[in-house]
Amino acid sequence: MNLNHKTILVTGSPGFIGAHLAIRLLHEMDCGTIISFDSMNDYYDPELKEYRLKRIEENAQNASAKHIFIKGNLADKAVLNSVFERYHPQIVVNLAAQAGVRYCIDHPDSYIESNLIGFYNILEACRHYTVEHLVFASSSSVYGGNTKIPFSTDDKTDQPMNLYAATKKSDELLAHAYAKLFNIPSTGLRFFTVYGPAGRPDMFYYSATLKLIKGETIQIYNYGNCKRDFTYIDDIIEGVYRVMKKPPEKKTGEDGLPIPPFKVYNIGGGQPENILDFIDILQKELVRAGVLPKNYDFEAHREFVPMQMGDVAVTYADSLAFEQDFNFRPNIGIQEGLRSYTLWYASYGK
Ligand SMILES: NC(=O)c1ccc[n+]([C@@H]2O[C@H](COP(=O)([O-])OP(=O)(O)OC[C@H]3O[C@@H](n4cnc5c(N)ncnc54)[C@H](O)[C@@H]3O)[C@@H](O)[C@H]2O)c1
Repeated sequence: MNLNHKTILVTGSPGFIGAHLAIRLLHEMDCGTIISFDSMNDYYDPELKEYRLKRIEENAQNASAKHIFIKGNLADKAVLNSVFERYHPQIVVNLAAQAGVRYCIDHPDSYIESNLIGFYNILEACRHYTVEHLVFASSSSVYGGNTKIPFSTDDKTDQPMNLYAATKKSDELLAHAYAKLFNIPSTGLRFFTVYGPAGRPDMFYYSATLKLIKGETIQIYNYGNCKRDFTYIDDIIEGVYRVMKKPPEKKTGEDGLPIPPFKVYNIGGGQPENILDFIDILQKELVRAGVLPKNYDFEAHREFVPMQMGDVAVTYADSLAFEQDFNFRPNIGIQEGLRSYTLWYASYGK
């Protein structure tokens, strides 16, 4: 599918992944419209969302596609429906969500509102206004405490370790039901720890940066026995972009009823890194970028602590199906990725 001239709704686009996607689409598309929809909530500093929105708008100035920003909550059905009624998006990329695996312990309502009610409203709108492809963000957290590695989409995902994971798994189930009932081509993407410039301040690499700058101590969970399949933002965006253009095919089964045009993929680097190696590179790059002084005493600012409730020790993506279907494999390593992140941070400074 060619995206030129299309109207594309990207929810959560002043968010981390959404902003990078909107900018990529503005560069790629010939004509068309990108609608950004976001509540600009204060889960983390909304100034960063404003900053990203500004970057999108700057990129839109020289683009052939148009960009429209609408501030609204996915859980507000009337507002969301009015967007579909007015613009009739052909492609919907739902990235808006309440993210984070620890925040859910004290703020469960936010997950139910955004990830369940909000996502249900997206599905209903896709049903009533007919879209060509719904792409939505799921998460590696659906694998819960899976000890079989790498994580395959054939593995069981019915033992979530936290409410975030439970809502993301629910989204996959809801989308499957809507694909079956209403023949809505839908693709769910399980992202694995995405990082990069203008990332999320609640994620480890960014929160560690802020703490080290303030001279505070960073906590290293599970005494450093953690591995994460870090995926650099540009790799994620390349993946999402390819997926958007290739909706699952609509087919009819032997019973004469539609086979749900529904797919779920992992997108991860496929190379889990030990958190201590990741921290070592982060520290070196923070010094190299001039964010921290050369003589910074990192040893004095790290504390090894037990595993946190809701966390998992290892995430490791088997992205073979994704590679085969989209001819792409994430390939940016943490050295290169963290360098881009720290250089960006040095220029942003907050
Ligand atoms: N970043 C990662 O490592 C990662 C990993 C796995 C999955 N994901 C998923 O990818 C998606 C994008 O993540 P991100 O890192 O860009 O997060 P983000 O928090 O930066 O972006 C999400 C955006 O959604 C908006 N939002 C939240 N609830 C909303 C609502 N009810 N209505 C309208 N807007 C709302 C927020 O204001 C925010 O700007 C999310 O669905 C997240 O769960 C991210």
